[in-house]
Amino acid sequence: MEKGIFVRTLEGEKTERPPVWFMRQAGRVLPSYLEMRKDYSFKELMRDPELAAKVTLLPIYDLGVDAAILFSDILVIPEALGMDLAFTDSGPRFTTALKDLPNPVKSLNADASKLEYIYDAIDKIQETKPADIPLIGFCGAPFTTLCYMVQGLGTNHTFPDAVSLLYKDKKLAKQLLGAITDLSIEYALNQVKHGISAFQIFETHAGLIPSDLYMKLIMPFVRKISAAVMNAGVPTIFLPKGLGVGLTQLQPGDADIISIDWQVPIKEARKMVPKEMGLQGNLDPRILLADQNVIENKLEEYLSFGAEESNWIFNVGHGFIPGIPVENAKFVVDWIKKANWNR
Ligand code: CP3
Repeated sequence: MEKGIFVRTLEGEKTERPPVWFMRQAGRVLPSYLEMRKDYSFKELMRDPELAAKVTLLPIYDLGVDAAILFSDILVIPEALGMDLAFTDSGPRFTTALKDLPNPVKSLNADASKLEYIYDAIDKIQETKPADIPLIGFCGAPFTTLCYMVQGLGTNHTFPDAVSLLYKDKKLAKQLLGAITDLSIEYALNQVKHGISAFQIFETHAGLIPSDLYMKLIMPFVRKISAAVMNAGVPTIFLPKGLGVGLTQLQPGDADIISIDWQVPIKEARKMVPKEMGLQGNLDPRILLADQNVIENKLEEYLSFGAEESNWIFNVGHGFIPGIPVENAKFVVDWIKKANWNR
């Protein structure tokens, strides 16, 4: 099988340019996706393996990115843990958040078979994708998943009940984090069995808590997931959004690649993260709402970094947001591909 630039970079090759893909590259900005959403709900697209495979591959053709990411959501783990998830017009919602239950641990009932449709989607993607395009699998990291489970969705973006649980009842928090972690490991290893080329762990809400608390209480759970995947021979990417100075506390076993958010300049991040680990990131997705000359000026700043650092995947510092013009996303991919990286 042909090896694309994403896999060659992960294997340690000094490639001619950084590989490029974007978080939330499918379900946010593509006209082809928005067109499909007129006929199908998000749930229908995610649940039907044929449709999920089709959506997963749209950015390959429409944007020219070097990797596809499974079209699914981090909320499938709470659902498989027994929480009732409804997709409403205003987005996904849990019928009851854990904060409103007297015994949250007892309310959970893991049923891994609820994730099987996702492996069918992965098989379909493997059958239909171009040979040199790798598929990235993913899950939410335990704390981010806990935030949604405890607080619920669409209520409070600072997740006060989830954060205070870490202080008020650490034992309960650890039980819940443990349940999320165990099922996430099973889920991740099944994705590996179905042939994913890399696995990303999304800790979108790391920045909600002090970084020392994060490293002490949460990181051991993340490490368990990464270790399982890395031992199974698949590289891991960890996005700890908002971890800040905590980046200096990461260790090589925590993941192969650390995805850097837009807060920390990439060159600073390079000084903070151990040199054995690669980096991913970190363009502010909101710059894609500006003119292309503004975007281009920012991209030029990455040239000197990319000349020095070949263990780096170009990406955004957090997912695409609605309203980004597709031409600007395409502009970034074309620019990364044609720039002189001086390697
Ligand atoms: O390109 C892709 O879209 C890839 C698939 C993907 C989705 N969600 C689809 C989705 C991925 C990788 C995710 C990850 C995800 N989901 C994260 C981590 C990354 C991040 O951006 O921080 C998080 C925190 C979620 C949880 C989530 N999913 C929320 C809070 C919501 C509702 C609000 C929102 O952001 O839209 C979702 C829904 C969701 N997940 C949509 C899509 C395409 C929108 C569904 C719709 O069309 O109504």
